[in-house]
Amino acid sequence: MANFFHISDTADAMSRAAADFFVERAKTAISRNGRFTVSLSGGSTPEALFRLLAASPWQDGIDWQKVHIFWGDERCVPDDSPENNARMARQALLDHVPVPENQICRMNGSLPPEAGAALYDIRLREFFDWKMPVFDLILLGMGDDGHTASLFPHTPVLKEKHRWAKEVYVDKLDSWRITLTAPVIQSAACIAFLVAGEKKVAALKEVLHGDYRPEEFPSQLVARNRAEVHWFLDAAAGKAVD
Ligand code: 6PG
Repeated sequence: MANFFHISDTADAMSRAAADFFVERAKTAISRNGRFTVSLSGGSTPEALFRLLAASPWQDGIDWQKVHIFWGDERCVPDDSPENNARMARQALLDHVPVPENQICRMNGSLPPEAGAALYDIRLREFFDWKMPVFDLILLGMGDDGHTASLFPHTPVLKEKHRWAKEVYVDKLDSWRITLTAPVIQSAACIAFLVAGEKKVAALKEVLHGDYRPEEFPSQLVARNRAEVHWFLDAAAGKAVD
């Protein structure tokens, strides 16, 4: 297991480093396979990255016609809710770049959670020809409790081995979510976490250096079970690395 740390002074510099990485991975995937399959993260951290990717020089560096967009998780809220991850990605990025609409595969948070998750699971199977998905890149964030995507501590979905997308009820948020499951995230060709801010340090220390307790710190399911994980951190979160 190898962690690659890209620590920047500020969150803005972190986003710029992540944007450069995103473009490089996209170019490599498109030159090798003729397409770039990427799963976007949600929450607040990636918005700055998405806005950079919609701007020069990053936007010009990607053949968006060959990009296929997926999500790591979605909140079960209406499409126009400020909480909706796909809405944020559209406003910050997808409405500004020429990704064909039929290459944007979002999780439907407006359906009943079980139905939305089952639908996404099928769409993943169809897209990846019923073989375990190997995304060229999965972007992830991490909560201050060590969750990633919507793999929250002590939730049944942490043990899901068969489904590729699953609904999960998050007690502390009193809300339903749809998430990629650990097997899919673990099988990605490349993982890039974006984590910024002092409040993430304690959890990040546990994820990186603590005892292996994935029920407590689900990001360990990714960080501790893969050959290569990239971490884009600002200086505050980077303190966890020392
Ligand atoms: C979500 C995300 C989630 C997020 C972390 C960090 O839908 O909320 O996918 O996993 O990455 O909660 O969120 P922030 O970037 O807002 O700190």
